[in-house]
Amino acid sequence: MKDKKITTATTVAGVKFDSCVCNASGVKCTTLEELREIGRSDSCAIVMKSSTMEEIHWDDGPRSYYLGEHGMVQSNGLQNLGYETYVAFSKKLIKYGKPIIASVAGSSIDANVTMVTAYQKSTVDLIEVNISCPNIPGKSQVGYDSKQTEELLFALLNLGCKPMGLKLPPYFDPAHWDSMSELILRYNISFITCINSIGNVLVIDPWERRTVIKPKKGYAGLCGEWLEYIANANIRAFYDRLEGKVSIFGVGGVKDGISAFTKILAGADALQVGNAFRQGDHKIFSTIDQQLEGMLEFHGFSSIQEAKGQLLYI
Ligand code: SIN
Repeated sequence: MKDKKITTATTVAGVKFDSCVCNASGVKCTTLEELREIGRSDSCAIVMKSSTMEEIHWDDGPRSYYLGEHGMVQSNGLQNLGYETYVAFSKKLIKYGKPIIASVAGSSIDANVTMVTAYQKSTVDLIEVNISCPNIPGKSQVGYDSKQTEELLFALLNLGCKPMGLKLPPYFDPAHWDSMSELILRYNISFITCINSIGNVLVIDPWERRTVIKPKKGYAGLCGEWLEYIANANIRAFYDRLEGKVSIFGVGGVKDGISAFTKILAGADALQVGNAFRQGDHKIFSTIDQQLEGMLEFHGFSSIQEAKGQLLYI
């Protein structure tokens, strides 16, 4: 066992990753300097902030509120520099020699088609379509509506050869896992990112007697460790339904080797780190990766591929 070579290298949608822990879209990945920092770190990929047609910047607030070290609520409102800027950034990020992942969150089908088409012609390796942002006033999450999801996926068919994935909201019922899996398989989605924040939670300050977040009367996305078991359930539910045809990024409460390992057991191919990166620094990627190697060794696995999905039932 001692001489067994252990690797956390992995493959997502046919793209090779030197290890399996990277940043999650939304956390310190909006500006070129932040993306370069991720490039210089041990993150196995560079995931860019979800982009829209035009730059979005809000001056109102508060839009985030920490719940101790365990997580936060946020209503960032898709603040980003606009997709054309991220297309340009992707060229500057090639030198880091790791996969680059674009994320799109268009406000309409046409916007998503325009952005995905542009990223298909760019130097990114994977394109994630975010259908789960809960923080746009007056808009519900496309991922909770299978008719809207199907219309979007139909429009995104055949726009290019780069693998396309979906960033999914958390689901809480097998009927939703069934219907979404059916669409994912029917429209040849190559990977899913599972899960986005839990949308529309309400944190109340009891002493001030008011909400802690300004937009949407305080309803916001819950992030961090609170998500861990909901994320595990969603990863497992999709792993069980997607017949090994779709890669899975596990995200939600990944903070150390144990929380990473349980997501691999549930069926993830790679992991994204949000809150622990937000509250820590870029060393988090190698720390989690090394601890994960320890967990693989402890259980006698030599690779992510060997451990993936190997959850036991009592
Ligand atoms: C935001 O920008 O509000 C968060 C993005 C997301 O939840 O997808």
